[in-house]
Amino acid sequence: MSLAIYPGSFDPPTLGHLDIIRRAALIFDEVKVCVMKNGAKSGAMFTPEECVCLIGKITERFNNVTVSAFDGLLADYIEDFEKPVIIRGLRAITDFDYEFQMALVNKKLNSKLETMFMVADTRYTYLSSSVVRALARSGGKLSCLVPAEILDAICREARGGVKPESLSQHQAK
Ligand code: COA
Repeated sequence: MSLAIYPGSFDPPTLGHLDIIRRAALIFDEVKVCVMKNGAKSGAMFTPEECVCLIGKITERFNNVTVSAFDGLLADYIEDFEKPVIIRGLRAITDFDYEFQMALVNKKLNSKLETMFMVADTRYTYLSSSVVRALARSGGKLSCLVPAEILDAICREARGGVKPESLSQHQAK
């Protein structure tokens, strides 16, 4: 069984993330999406548990994709798995330095950790979760940036409204 682990902060998940998940699910027998903390980021919109629910909603149709959250190092998370491959999306050359450094540090921490990069679809190279958060908070149009299933949850959260019940009730796969 080939296993891909797709880590990220996914706050919120975008069409760019979904594209990487969809393509990885065609290549690997199993894809585990893992919501993790990026200590360098502030101004979160959703908690990791809420991001798990959002990803659960947009990946329901894939029967080889599961999602969970892990509060710790990626190098520790992969310990439980045999031959896992870490998947990361590369949008532009500007992503490369950061991703290259992260892959090398992770390899140093755990030598069985292999990172593979997938080139982001050209439709999403300009896209990022921070762009989505900023646009959502200013009332901008999000329909071409995030999956339809989670549009409402993002807009409500940006307006400071009550989270939809389904967001807290969704069972992580
Ligand atoms: N299309 C469009 N946008 C994409 C994309 C794609 N295919 N792939 C990534 N992005 C965007 C994301 O929206 C995000 O935007 P943002 O910076 O505005 O939030 C950005 O690119 C990268 O985010 P994401 O893929 O969600 O990951 P991240 O860089 O926030 O996550 C972790 C990094 C969580 C994987 C890393 O910090 C980690 O491993 N943390 C655990 C602790 C650890 O092990 N630390 C040691 C690391 S060396």
